[in-house]
Order: sequence, then C-alpha cells, then structure tokens
Amino acid sequence: RSYRLENKTAFLSFSAFSGALCGRVRDGCVALGSRRQRETRSATLLIWAHPFGRYSKLPDCLALFQIGGCTITDDRSAYPLADAVIIHHREVASGAVHLPTEPRPGAQKWIWMNYESPAHTPRLWRFDGVFNLTLTYRANSDIYLPYGNVVPTINRRLDKNNLTQTLHAPARSQLLRPRLLAWVISNWSESQARVAFYHKLRRYMRVDVFGRAGRALPGDSGKGSVVRMLRQYQFYLALENSQHTDYITEKLWNAVLAGAIPVVLGPSRQNYERFLPPEAFIHVGDFPTVRALAKYLRHLDWRDGYSLHQISFWAEHYCTACRAVRRTRGRTHVVRDLKRWFYS
Ligand SMILES: *[C@@H]1O[C@H](CO)[C@@H](O)[C@H](O)[C@H]1NC(C)=O
Ligand SMILES: *[C@@H]1O[C@H](CO)[C@@H](O)[C@H](O)[C@H]1NC(C)=O
Ligand SMILES: *[C@@H]1O[C@H](CO)[C@@H](O)[C@H](O)[C@H]1NC(C)=O
Repeated sequence: RSYRLENKTAFLSFSAFSGALCGRVRDGCVALGSRRQRETRSATLLIWAHPFGRYSKLPDCLALFQIGGCTITDDRSAYPLADAVIIHHREVASGAVHLPTEPRPGAQKWIWMNYESPAHTPRLWRFDGVFNLTLTYRANSDIYLPYGNVVPTINRRLDKNNLTQTLHAPARSQLLRPRLLAWVISNWSESQARVAFYHKLRRYMRVDVFGRAGRALPGDSGKGSVVRMLRQYQFYLALENSQHTDYITEKLWNAVLAGAIPVVLGPSRQNYERFLPPEAFIHVGDFPTVRALAKYLRHLDWRDGYSLHQISFWAEHYCTACRAVRRTRGRTHVVRDLKRWFYS
C-alpha cells in the first residue's frame, strides 16, 4: 500500500510519482487506495445548477474516487448549511441562473468552475471578488483538475473503476516504418571509429546491418535500393568512415531522401547544421554515452508502463472539490482578480 498523494508542487513528475492520478497540486489528485482522511467532519457541496442545463448523476465519491466525507447535492434547500457551492460559469454569466443570495452563510465557500478557454468565457469581469476558490484546468487553480494526464501504470486491481487506461506502443507491424535502425557498410575495418561505435550500440539495441559485412541489399544495391530499403526504417546510421570538416557523404542524403532520421557520426553538430536544420538529425555527440543514445532511439516505446487518466465530467470535479473544501476548512480565501488571472 504505497499509494499516497504526490508532492504538491511538482507538476507531472513521472519519476517521483506514486499512484496519484494527477500531476500536481493542492487538491486535484485522486489518490487510489489512499487512506489519508485527516478530516473528520464531512462536507456538504451544493451543485448550484447542472452545467449547460444538463442533468448529470451525482457521484458517490467514496466508491468512485476513494474520497470520503462528502455529501453532494443539487437540492437548493441545502444552501444555508452547505460548506461550499459549486457554480459553473456559463449559466451565471448568461443570466440563465442567478448567483445564490447574499450574505452567504457562515464560512461557506463559493467555487468558480469553468472548463472553457478564456475566449469562450464571457463576462468574467462581473465576478471579480465574488468567488472563494477556482476549479479549472489551469495548473494554478485552487482546485486543479486537468482534462487528462499520463501516470505510471498502477496495479489494475486498485483501479477498479477504470479511472485510467493503459497505454501501449503500437506494434511495429502496424507502423508505416516497422523497423527501427539500419546501417549500410561496405568497407568494414575494426580500426574505424564507426565500427567501434557499432559494437557499443549493438549491446543496447538491435541494428540491422546491410552491405558487404552484413545482409545483402535487395535489388541492385545501388542508391535506389538503399533508399527503398531505408523507407522501412525509422533511423539510419549515417556514420562516416573518418571525421573531417564538411566530410558528409551520400549516407546522410540517402537517409534524408528515404525519410529515415539520420543518426550521424562525422564532423561536429555545427558542421552538419550548415547542411540541415538542427532537428533533422541526431548527432552521436548529443549524448553522453552510447547507451543514452540507444535509450533515446527506443523512446518511442515510452507508453509501456504508463496509463492515461481522463477526467469524468462532472463527478470527478465535485468529488475533488469536496476534498479541497474539507482540507481548506477554516481558511478564508477570495478570488479577487478572476478575469486577470484567467487570461494570464
Ligand atoms: C473495467 O474494465 C474491465 C476490463 O475492461 C471490465 O471487465 C470491468 O467491468 C470495468 N469496470 C467498470 C467499473 O467499468
Ligand atoms: C577501407 O577502409 C580502410 C581503413 O579505414 C582504408 O584504408 C581503405 O582505403 C578503405 N577502402 C575503401 C575502398 O574505401
Ligand atoms: C468568500 O468570499 C467572500 C466574497 O469575497 C468573502 O466575503 C468571504 O469572506 C469569503 N469566505 C471564505 C470562507 O473564504
């Protein structure tokens, strides 16, 4: 049971992550299996009006998100005793729904909830100094809930409500370029830097070698057959036989023509940049070690081990807000410059 809320300042730090379902924040993470319930008294949250006038079933926060101590209601007669009121921007901005009556009871907090962009959030200026907490997709909201985020895959058993979906790298057979890395070499000599480099690289990843020292090239083995073969590959080792200023041969251009990304060993990166944009190639010298380079080339498979969490509208918003309200109980908070903040 090592699941706990993540460090509240690091945004989506993959490595430090331990099972909470969102990157950062004050109160926006769903911690699967969390037993951290330091609040005792439960909180009542009043949903002032259903967003966009569409009814959505009110959530059981404990069953869905392991957030306990929440009473979520849309019954306005609960207004005098509600700890917080969630107010969705659209309806109060258009006038379709009026704000609750003032003065607000006791320490009640009004929560401004909005998932539209500033361009689609009219009449913000009306609400400066009205709300106590913000609940939006912006990372510096009081209650932060992004539309989605990527988290390390957790034990499926703990995720019994399917809050995350496991990601998979596409099978290589489904890719337009099903093969990863090729090298064509005709004059193999152990004294060359490129051969030493190859020996190191193949310790970390598979390299398909063509040419006199490897597999035969299909076809006439001329330039056309090299380019055709390279179209199957994501990367091509364009390794020069020796390293000299401007000595950049057809190896590079064959890869460029075939649309494979050249991994170059030759003159300096600056020298290559005289011929190609910086992002068009990978320079062996960009990496401290051959192992780091191999890791980078294989990084397309980053998805393995990660899951995607997309928020459930609006259940997750209500439950996350409830937890925030319980945590911030006793504290006063006023959102003064709502408009300036939301546009910033
Ligand atoms: C979650 O997904 C699994 C596998 O797809 C499925 O068997 C299960 O019924 C789902 N659970 C819920 C609560 O939707
Ligand atoms: C092959 O490589 C060796 C060693 O680098 C070199 O001396 C020789 O000239 C090369 N042969 C050809 C045909 O390029
Ligand atoms: C909420 O905001 C109102 C309006 O600015 C303010 O008067 C009140 O003190 C705030 N209450 C809390 C509990 O933060």
